[in-house]
Amino acid sequence: MEGFSYNNKKLHCEQISIEKICKKIDTPFYLYSSKGILSNFNALSNKLKNCNVLIAYAVKANSNISILRLLAKKGAGADVVSYGELIRAIKAGIPGKKIVFSGVGKTDLEISKAIDHKILQFNIESLHELHTIEKISREKNIKANIAVRINPDIEAGGHPKISTGKKTDKFGISITEALKVYKLASDSSFLNIVGVDMHIGSQILQIKPFNNSFKKIERFCKKLESINIKIKNIDLGGGLGVNYSDKKNVDLTKEYTNLIKNIYSSTKKKIIIEPGRFIVANAGILVTKVIYKKKNDKKNFIVVDAGMNDFLRPALYDARHNVKHVIIKSNKSNSDFFDIVGPICESADVVAENANLDSDIKKDDLLFIDNVGAYGATMSSTYNSRSLIPEILVHKKMFYKIRNKMEADDFIKLEKIPNWLK
Ligand SMILES: Cc1ncc(COP(=O)(O)O)c(C=O)c1O
Repeated sequence: MEGFSYNNKKLHCEQISIEKICKKIDTPFYLYSSKGILSNFNALSNKLKNCNVLIAYAVKANSNISILRLLAKKGAGADVVSYGELIRAIKAGIPGKKIVFSGVGKTDLEISKAIDHKILQFNIESLHELHTIEKISREKNIKANIAVRINPDIEAGGHPKISTGKKTDKFGISITEALKVYKLASDSSFLNIVGVDMHIGSQILQIKPFNNSFKKIERFCKKLESINIKIKNIDLGGGLGVNYSDKKNVDLTKEYTNLIKNIYSSTKKKIIIEPGRFIVANAGILVTKVIYKKKNDKKNFIVVDAGMNDFLRPALYDARHNVKHVIIKSNKSNSDFFDIVGPICESADVVAENANLDSDIKKDDLLFIDNVGAYGATMSSTYNSRSLIPEILVHKKMFYKIRNKMEADDFIKLEKIPNWLK
């Protein structure tokens, strides 16, 4: 965890104790360390400072505007996949010329808005999308910058639900098809071919898939240039994984950035990378508290006030996260194993299985789920008509509410009973 440590058996984020924050903010809430986020960002940017590299942070990982602003101030760009994300990035101060637009289903409206903001490039995912962008650019009389997302047909490891670079995945265009798409694009006076793109998946903890796919994209660029299609940017996507288990300590940053340096020095193109998880995952926790302790024939349960609507990763991806005490009370000898479950009416609402916690854990004790800064708050919902929980950002000794709680009253207000039902 970056930016978190125990001090006198109490968990602190930077210089402030979580217990103190809980006196002001009701659980559950997300809490991020600005120092942790910046340290992750710097771990990549410092190693790449002598290359022409744009770190286009993948907004989907954590799209809070304050976090985007924090990164924007360090020079980050953004990888966006919707109009909402585009507007967030712009609002955070990331200029259009540092924004790439990815995603298989860009709507006409999204394309139109992104053209207006003169974004760095659209990462095109299909021939149909190319035609749509062409048509909208023509109508607006503004040239759109485009790259084609190639599908390198590479197995990235990790969970099948986050693999994106195999030919059975819905993403990208095969290398042979892509060549045709580029040729078509080069015939249009409203499309400005600027780059090549790919993204092979997420939570990748081996260097080989990166190595293989980077080689493929480099070869593909050479092929394009051999037919006189000039490329300025090579977008390598995101995917760098993090250690979710205390037992694992894989650090690929050196090898990964070395691959990027190599591709930069052999091509001299601008390199774009789109890390999301790596920047924010380990800089965030979800603070929750015990509602009930429950025992059945086979298991001990702790029911907490955070559910799968707040944090979906365990239910969606079988993701494993540690649950620990905010305040350590006793020695490990007095511990027991518990399944930590949320209040949602779904059997999948299990935050963690076999968490080792104090056996005398009781109602209102504070716990936290670790490494939830990425794909945590952004995937939360109001399922079971539960509130959207607040997000807090710590900076040194201070904490700031960067998203208010959205209560049931707030979202029920959006609904209407038609007259005929009144
Ligand atoms: C196109 C694209 N770029 C970047 C990312 C970020 O990936 P990660 O958070 O694993 O770095 C994703 C997420 O899957 C993505 O779809």
